[in-house]
Amino acid sequence: MPKEKTLVLIKPDGVLKRHIGEIMNRFERKGLKIIGLKMLNVKIDIAERHYSEHKGKPFYNDLIEYITSGPVVAMALEGIDSIAIVRKLVGSTDGSKAEPGTIRGDFSMSINLNTIHASDSQKSAEYEIPIFFSNGELLDFKMPDEKYM
Ligand code: CMP
Repeated sequence: MPKEKTLVLIKPDGVLKRHIGEIMNRFERKGLKIIGLKMLNVKIDIAERHYSEHKGKPFYNDLIEYITSGPVVAMALEGIDSIAIVRKLVGSTDGSKAEPGTIRGDFSMSINLNTIHASDSQKSAEYEIPIFFSNGELLDFKMPDEKYM
């Protein structure tokens, strides 16, 4: 299995309900490596680029309005098979249906305010990461425990 990079956004409800630390801890304790990290207010043009695949869908305007409504934490995570592993930790899209134990299952009761976004494929990750991080903002370093992962 190759090492993959993936993008995670802690959405405004996750930040404003003070869940940043616990969410990041779930990724770290699993063994994922945080290689990029920032907190930002997402501007409309960035939101539209990030969610371009949803343009025209009934929920698109609410989605753009919501993601630009408050602070977001953006993270680039790296690890073997990290895209699928992160999606498992995140849980299914609708927080009201997501399994307990997953991030959405534990912190969200909604499909719109679903606490977190994670890239759903290699193609999405390659598209989404550069929207939030320049090459120089992604760090290349080794963890001392990598041989156990
Ligand atoms: P996210 O993973 O950020 O990707 C697109 C977002 O659109 C999704 O999480 C949901 O918050 C939101 N959304 C709202 N309605 C729907 C829907 N019917 N299907 C998929 N996503 C939806």
